[in-house]
Amino acid sequence: MQEFPKNFFWGASTASHQIEGGTLNDWSEWEKENAVRLAGEAELKFGYLESWPQIKGEAMNPSNYISGRACDFYNRFEEDLELAKSLNHNAFRFSIEWSRIEPERGKFDEKEIARYKRIVDSLRKKGMEPFVTLWHWTIPLWVRDQGGWESKKTADDFGEFSQKMAESFGGKVRFWITLNEPEIYSNASYLKGCWPPQKKNIFAYLKVFNNLAKAHKNVYDLIKKNDPQAQIGIAKHNIYFEAYQNKFGNRLMKKAADWWWNFRFLDKIKNKLDFIGLNYYFYSLIDEGFGKNRNQAVSDMGWELRPEGIRHALKELKNYNKPIIITENGLADRDDKHRSWFILETLKNIQKAIAQGVDVRGYLHWSLLDNFEWDKGFWPRFGLVEVDYKTMERKIRPSARLYARICKENKII
Ligand code: FCB
Repeated sequence: MQEFPKNFFWGASTASHQIEGGTLNDWSEWEKENAVRLAGEAELKFGYLESWPQIKGEAMNPSNYISGRACDFYNRFEEDLELAKSLNHNAFRFSIEWSRIEPERGKFDEKEIARYKRIVDSLRKKGMEPFVTLWHWTIPLWVRDQGGWESKKTADDFGEFSQKMAESFGGKVRFWITLNEPEIYSNASYLKGCWPPQKKNIFAYLKVFNNLAKAHKNVYDLIKKNDPQAQIGIAKHNIYFEAYQNKFGNRLMKKAADWWWNFRFLDKIKNKLDFIGLNYYFYSLIDEGFGKNRNQAVSDMGWELRPEGIRHALKELKNYNKPIIITENGLADRDDKHRSWFILETLKNIQKAIAQGVDVRGYLHWSLLDNFEWDKGFWPRFGLVEVDYKTMERKIRPSARLYARICKENKII
């Protein structure tokens, strides 16, 4: 097997709210109000899953839906980064929790900034490249109360917070991800209404979508002004849509779906973008309807496992002419039944895309640790490393060891 490009980034991805524990933000408050409801709906939503007998104890328990201590990464980051290092990772993606840094407008908490600086320093010491996300879906309560991303003020406030971060990290952070999956967030929070603030309103949705694009462009300029060498991107969730049997109607629907999900946000910001972070999870077959997929292996969450889709998703980004870093890719698989196969097949397909001229610079698996999966809570297990939430003990899964060998050799073995 051929090698991956020189200096390829290998590692894993995380997000503050999902691992740190002890956060106080719009999500933590929403969880408390919705835990009982979510537990009550679990059987209806997930009862059909093959994994149901295993997950139902957790899924029907309201405490599953409260992020609480999460993985206690807040206190254990040093050990966890050490663990990532021992697995031969040379990169790590994490997010900065805005609500910790700026619990009140304009009042920055220097202690919390210092803690994130320690994370960056620790990564640098270990020879690991930090990929810093500035916003991974959670907002401080004062931002929620002014109307969240519907309010124009929020984009400006996010700019101030980001500027403060850029100044605080000096030249120590090279790769910045301004926003995580803006279109997934605006859809789930403002159109489907299943995430906070649970609105179902196309106008609010469009406002949020546009404000996020504005916020990105603004932050791009601010960070560049502070450090012209900085590389700034977003983490973009792209789905591979396949037009079944290449039929005209299916092709037309693919075009529409591509525009809506995959390219619309990127097109708005592409002039202020140094790299594309690709979050890849879904392959959707279009056959007079979306997502009518062939009956293939599925994850514990019922998500179809089709690693070859990443090759197509990568090729479809080629026209943007930007370096691409896979900023997320993974699966909920508590027994580690599919993860090794999934990682191997995914990496083979990334190699094929590279051979076809796509400029891929790194692969960050979702996730380093099992963690808090938003409105599903703790039962989905995405970690290379298993977490025992009672004892907080970490246990390396076999697939993590296989992945560690690949990271070390820079090739599929
Ligand atoms: C992505 C999110 C990430 C995680 C994975 C499973 O959409 O960015 O936080 O929840 O899905």
